[in-house]
Amino acid sequence: MAILVTGGTGYIGSHTSIELLKRGERIVVLDNLSNSKIEMCDSIKKLSGKDFKFYQVDLLDKPEVERVFKENKIEEVIHFAGLKAVGESCEKPIEYYHNNITGTLNLVDVMRKNGCKKIVFSSSATVYGDPKTVPIKEDFPLSTTNPYGSTKLMIERILTDVYKSDNEWSVILLRYFNPIGAHESGEIGENPNGIPNNLMPYINYVAAGKLDHLNVFGNDYDTHDGTGVRDYIHVVDLALGHLKAIDKARKITGVEAYNLGTGTGYSVLDIVKAFEKANDIKIKYEITNRRPGDIAVCFADPTKAKEELGWEATRDLEQMCKDSWKYTKNNIK
Ligand code: NAD
Ligand code: UFG
Repeated sequence: MAILVTGGTGYIGSHTSIELLKRGERIVVLDNLSNSKIEMCDSIKKLSGKDFKFYQVDLLDKPEVERVFKENKIEEVIHFAGLKAVGESCEKPIEYYHNNITGTLNLVDVMRKNGCKKIVFSSSATVYGDPKTVPIKEDFPLSTTNPYGSTKLMIERILTDVYKSDNEWSVILLRYFNPIGAHESGEIGENPNGIPNNLMPYINYVAAGKLDHLNVFGNDYDTHDGTGVRDYIHVVDLALGHLKAIDKARKITGVEAYNLGTGTGYSVLDIVKAFEKANDIKIKYEITNRRPGDIAVCFADPTKAKEELGWEATRDLEQMCKDSWKYTKNNIK
């Protein structure tokens, strides 16, 4: 019996795999390595002290996904695998829809054929679009503004329909807010390809001297200092949320969505200041135009996850900034 972790060598999947192994779960990791490296398997083994089977398999290759199920008794799936860059999804919508949607359809069909009916899915706060009010609750209206977000919302609907067709399924939709930080060892973390799009990796590149300065995308939002506000969550807290989600999936059938965030919003300048203070490094920045598609404020109401999963984030912003930098310092050449 094992949990299949798709996308398990990626940023969030690797941290989750470590926590699952540390808890004594048996896991099988599947990843096509399109956005991660095979060496991650050694890091996961080292940091957890446990072994696991890895398959370099693409979810688009259905016979190979079937082989993974044939060779292992998979009881539950945590489904991280997918393409995730918002900007790239606007340039390559067909690739994004194909990879994320077709990949999920293949996975779910193989699960069904093998009687595996429990899935925890990596969704995103992006499914709330531009929320009318904050904090965001799970029953807020859903909408999307880019192909990446649309794949997340479509997959949520696909999984909901699968449950409607067969009430034995357990579907847990985890809507992540902004994951940052890294494993406390400094061995694994987020390593984007090329110039980072997201705030924390970008700040780290500036700190490392790889980029000259941070562009702050707008200071005329309706927020305390005019810059965009988000709910940043430590990746290890996020990882631990998946263990609680698996516990829930083992207990119930149905479809449940949970926000995984801290409930606190920080602005871009709050993050810059916190990073400078935590690591004693000055971050040069310039205010530039707003980034198209950005919203002013996005933070979670994580009450449902606390009450129903028994989960809440415990790592603070200082820890997130320290762990991000520890990883970057050790790993960015
Ligand atoms: P990541 O890119 O580090 O990990 C995703 C992994 O999936 C990669 O290792 C990649 O190689 C693999 N993959 C992609 N397509 C695949 C396919 N067809 N078959 C097999 N493997 C495939 O990303 P992450 O930050 O760890 O995100 C994990 C999940 O969480 C994604 O679904 C992402 O959309 C979602 N998510 C991420 C964030 C974030 O800010 N990081 C926020 C909300 C939701
Ligand atoms: N920002 C800058 N400069 C940068 C990068 C970002 O000022 O160089 C600002 C943005 O304008 C925003 C904030 O920093 O106000 C956070 O931006 P990120 O790109 O780090 O994160 P987003 O909130 O835009 O999006 C992230 C993921 C999405 C996911 C969403 C909600 O990239 O995939 O969180 O989970 F959908």
